[in-house]
Amino acid sequence: MTPDDTLCYLNGEYLSLSKAHIPVLDRGFIFGDGIYEVVPAYRKRPFRLEQHLDRLQRSLAEARIDNPYPREQWHAIIGWLTQSATVEDLVVYMQVTRGVAKRDFTFPANVAPTVFAMASPLNRPSPAQRERGLRTISVPDLRWLRCDIKSVSLLGAVLARQQAADRGVDEVVQHRDGRLTEGSASNVWVVKSGRVLAPPRDNLILEGIRYGFIQELCERASIPFDARIISMSEVRGADELMLSAATREVLPIVELDGRPIGDGRPGPVYRHLRRGYDEAIDAL
Ligand SMILES: Cc1ncc(COP(=O)(O)O)c(C=O)c1O
Repeated sequence: MTPDDTLCYLNGEYLSLSKAHIPVLDRGFIFGDGIYEVVPAYRKRPFRLEQHLDRLQRSLAEARIDNPYPREQWHAIIGWLTQSATVEDLVVYMQVTRGVAKRDFTFPANVAPTVFAMASPLNRPSPAQRERGLRTISVPDLRWLRCDIKSVSLLGAVLARQQAADRGVDEVVQHRDGRLTEGSASNVWVVKSGRVLAPPRDNLILEGIRYGFIQELCERASIPFDARIISMSEVRGADELMLSAATREVLPIVELDGRPIGDGRPGPVYRHLRRGYDEAIDAL
């Protein structure tokens, strides 16, 4: 699927990605004033779509942008994009900005939001990637204090991820005031003495849709789960470390700052959660 044959949705129309244009005064372009969502779809079936649409609604409300569409219309757009795609496993991207207006920080009056959505091929983590695990570095979290909003203002995440790329590793593990926050575009999980730990759902992290899902998988398997502040020394001393995100699903982190986590190999809790994830995809 290239830009020429990818169909996308823009403000009520379906068209090829290469023909989709927005005015330069769009507030998403000028201010990063918008919200987005990323929904994985397997065999063209969206995974945990209602939770993603709930989070879209929550982010829009926090940004004080009216949700432009009722839920059925979002369903229709996502259904259309996935059904018309030429591959089976997809990632659906949706973005809503505050719209096009003269450049002024205050909200414009009577301006319609800009709505864009597209479906691209989802490259699922390969069996080799799952076995190899991820290498990471720790970096200070330099983002703003509303990381719970899925905002398109992603400069902090871009700069963080580039540090990982510059060092030839897969992802960063961010920390603020000595506590674990999250990856550049993923939630980070600690396993210690058979317990799964996650940073609390507060303003310092984005609560991933996989956050609730992994909690459910733990509950089903009677694996103790705690959402609490986690120090970086606990991260370094973890038995296992994992990350989760729509496109990466759940993956083991086997190295942090050049040192192995646990024995440096994917661990038993990861394997258990991984199996639960795969079963949920198969059952879609
Ligand atoms: C900062 C951040 N945290 C966490 C996540 C994981 O969220 P989800 O599981 O909904 O993909 C993402 C997703 O890309 C993210 O950008």
